[in-house]
Amino acid sequence: MKSWLVFGSIASLFILCDCSKAESRIIPELSKFEVVEPPLGFRLSSHCPSGLKLEKGFCLIDYRYINSLEINGGLGQTLVQVKLDPKVIDLGRYLFFDPILSGDKQLSCAHCHHPAYSLSDGRKQSIGKDGLGYGPTRKNGVLLKRSAPSLWNVVYMKNLFWEGRASNLEDQAEGPLYSPDEMASSPEIIESRLNESPYYQKMFRQAYGEKGSKISAALVIDALSNFERSLVSFSSRFDKWSTGDKEALNTEELLGYNVFRSFVARCAECHPPPMFTNNVFATIGVLDTKERDFGRETITGQNLLRGAFRVPSLRNIVKTAPYMHAGNLDSLEEVVHFYNEGGGRGNGAPNDLRIHWHVREMGLSKKEINALISFLYTLTDETSMPKFPKSVPSGLPVALEYESYQNRSSIK
Ligand code: HEC
Ligand code: HEC
Repeated sequence: MKSWLVFGSIASLFILCDCSKAESRIIPELSKFEVVEPPLGFRLSSHCPSGLKLEKGFCLIDYRYINSLEINGGLGQTLVQVKLDPKVIDLGRYLFFDPILSGDKQLSCAHCHHPAYSLSDGRKQSIGKDGLGYGPTRKNGVLLKRSAPSLWNVVYMKNLFWEGRASNLEDQAEGPLYSPDEMASSPEIIESRLNESPYYQKMFRQAYGEKGSKISAALVIDALSNFERSLVSFSSRFDKWSTGDKEALNTEELLGYNVFRSFVARCAECHPPPMFTNNVFATIGVLDTKERDFGRETITGQNLLRGAFRVPSLRNIVKTAPYMHAGNLDSLEEVVHFYNEGGGRGNGAPNDLRIHWHVREMGLSKKEINALISFLYTLTDETSMPKFPKSVPSGLPVALEYESYQNRSSIK
């Protein structure tokens, strides 16, 4: 096993160099991830990523706690098992990290869903096309309207994107791939490039057999989606505690959990375990910085749903600052203060929003606020963090070295 790379040192180096241009920039706690040299010829792996276990040739989620959760209906949500092909997951991983899918060969999914930032990008709003670099210091390029969510447990999300405009991962992927502001690609570009790549030709045949002999955009999206389904996080300290390990949480964290599920804070009404989202839409009154974001109303046309967004999961939440669709709350302290003051009601949200009745001034004490935040720290589990391939089949630079972007004209 190769050593874990603590990414902090490299990232902080260029964060420091760039501080003169910082508008107010948040630097979230960095995640650990492994950078690996791909095997000869990019041979696909028949092993399952960690967090999944191999059974009869397929990877199943190794949810050590799933059985007890299925029995323990008290938690209200049953998670169905999924069966994933290890080779397809591995192919999806290379595609996820390979900028070949973008029109200008500069941008991969990983630029905005980066392992160092727990599969998000540490930015208030993401930067799309023509940007330089990745993560919080990515600059220039098209500034998108919203913040990038992390991808943990998207396998169980019923509505994707902040306002839920896609209902499955396959439809979702067409968003970033074909949007002119993001990867600005097309099925034709993707198909012609990948069918010309001897590595990808071989890899698609390994993953899909005969069906992979002609690479279609639909197969690319299938591999990406199956890779995303492997990004699970269900082995946090909270999971250990909830299935009987009473030592897994300390007194303060338990107090925090009690605040979380209390009738005063009511966090668990919308963020119930095990997903920490009920997968529905709610308006809490987050303020937009510039242009207003009408959220779910733009999909359904109902003004009752103005400013409503899909309740996000809180898994790995300490790793994915800044928060909310607009990325306007920098820390968990700010989030909890926002709720404690009554959400949008206490923070001057426009009065045409129908803020959910559970979001009201709470009057939590300093001690309860601190405990609630400590509890949110117990939801961290990055066991299934994907391995970062040091190189990808296209030979293009991956989102690891800042330097490789300095000379973009030399990249064909
Ligand atoms: C330029 C940055 C950027 C790139 C590149 C990018 N994304 Fe995203 N991603 C975002 C942002 C921002 C959102 C939220 C957009 C919204 O809700 O309107 C998002 C949302 C998502 C979601 C929805 C998650 C949820 O919980 O609803 C998934 C899944 C996702 N992206 C996967 C991908 C995949 C796969 C790729 C590559 C094909 C990709 N993204 C490329 C920035 C990016
Ligand atoms: C009425 C449902 C509801 C309740 C109650 C609720 N939330 Fe939320 N929560 C949401 C929605 C919806 C969002 C996304 C809002 C947005 O982006 O505009 C959100 C966002 C968040 C986020 C940011 C997630 C991210 O990835 O950016 C955190 C953290 C959070 N909530 C924690 C809490 C805590 C702690 C409580 C209890 C004090 C709580 N929530 C109560 C619905 C709710």
